[in-house]
Amino acid sequence: MKYNFDEIIPRENTNSIKYDLRSEIFGNPDVIPMWVADMDFRTPDVVIDAMQQRCKHEIMGYSFRDDDYHTALIQWLKRRHNYTIEKEWIAFAPGIVPALNMAVLAFTQPGDAIIVQPPVYFPFFGAVTEHNRKLILNPLIRHNDYYTMDYDNLEQCCCDGARMLILCNPHNPVSRAWTPDELTRMSEICLRYNVLMISDEIHADLVQRGHKHTVLASLSEKVANQTITMTAASKTFNLAGLATAAVIASNPQLLQSYNQVLNAIHVGMGNIFGNISTRAAYSKGEPWLEQLLDYLHENVNLLMSFQPRLQQWVSYRAPEATYMAWLNFSKLGLDDEALNKFIINEAGLGLNAGIQFGAGGEGHMRINLACPKSTVEKALTQLEQALLKHF
Ligand SMILES: Cc1ncc(COP(=O)(O)O)c(C=O)c1O
Repeated sequence: MKYNFDEIIPRENTNSIKYDLRSEIFGNPDVIPMWVADMDFRTPDVVIDAMQQRCKHEIMGYSFRDDDYHTALIQWLKRRHNYTIEKEWIAFAPGIVPALNMAVLAFTQPGDAIIVQPPVYFPFFGAVTEHNRKLILNPLIRHNDYYTMDYDNLEQCCCDGARMLILCNPHNPVSRAWTPDELTRMSEICLRYNVLMISDEIHADLVQRGHKHTVLASLSEKVANQTITMTAASKTFNLAGLATAAVIASNPQLLQSYNQVLNAIHVGMGNIFGNISTRAAYSKGEPWLEQLLDYLHENVNLLMSFQPRLQQWVSYRAPEATYMAWLNFSKLGLDDEALNKFIINEAGLGLNAGIQFGAGGEGHMRINLACPKSTVEKALTQLEQALLKHF
């Protein structure tokens, strides 16, 4: 079956954060919404069918995740990422952000230092500070809009007593797919200082053509023993509204500590549709995903085709992973408030301001390319016209 990712599907009036909160967020209901990380594509038919089938039963009582759910996840990780896990290693989370917060509660104490690597998905900061842990920054190094980890500073942070590193793998918003070498170097430092690694791998399946995702815990048994992997079908198959994710640890003590927090706050049941959709997506969604990846690749090519026209004002690289691109507007010399106003009011775009992602986000914007090609084309044309007019 050939899926049609070109179709414009109206999302207004569906309580969509991306569409229906434009007035609140941007003060303008008409911006092209390319911010929140969900896709403007229909969730795969195999997933919708499974949920519709379940709906027919008409009783929505308490439910649990069965063996088929676990098998689907296990086989997916093996097939797509060559990562072998056992059912006993899997725990539940009603989302990766809740999982990050629960991990912080489970493995650290108030006052403990936790490392994050900005610019990074902003809930990482809150997961640390909202529980009175100490936020330690190991900013990524930017060179010609390409980002790498600062291993020397990471070692210093670990040496200074950090207890945990929260890794974004692949990294949102700079769209890096960390390589085995990079992850090995990072993990060697964490192992040396006994720093627990939390690897948020929600974007693992959304790696651009020509790049590869490496599951951190797949590097070695030693690394796995000191790592918690967090993953979900939610980004891959556009299921974010179903609040379902998996937490994986081969180290039984780690898993037990995590589950203690999960159970203490009684959020372990999840929901019927999260369970059913995840199972269907992992077991039947692969053909759809392959076509999606081809389409996203074309959107990245489209973005890159605008580069010669835009480069005097904005620089960027083709994303290696995620469906987001990270645009560097520093050349404009605007402060972040002025840049934001320009993007919203002059270009008519609803993007994520880079400063939301912390240090290193100044002068940047994140754009979501998971939408029909015609939308990407329209947005980039609007951007070009606004830049031509104003600079
Ligand atoms: C790196 C990363 N982690 C987690 C999330 C959100 O996860 P969830 O909706 O499962 O809480 C996102 C969403 O954009 C993300 O980019």
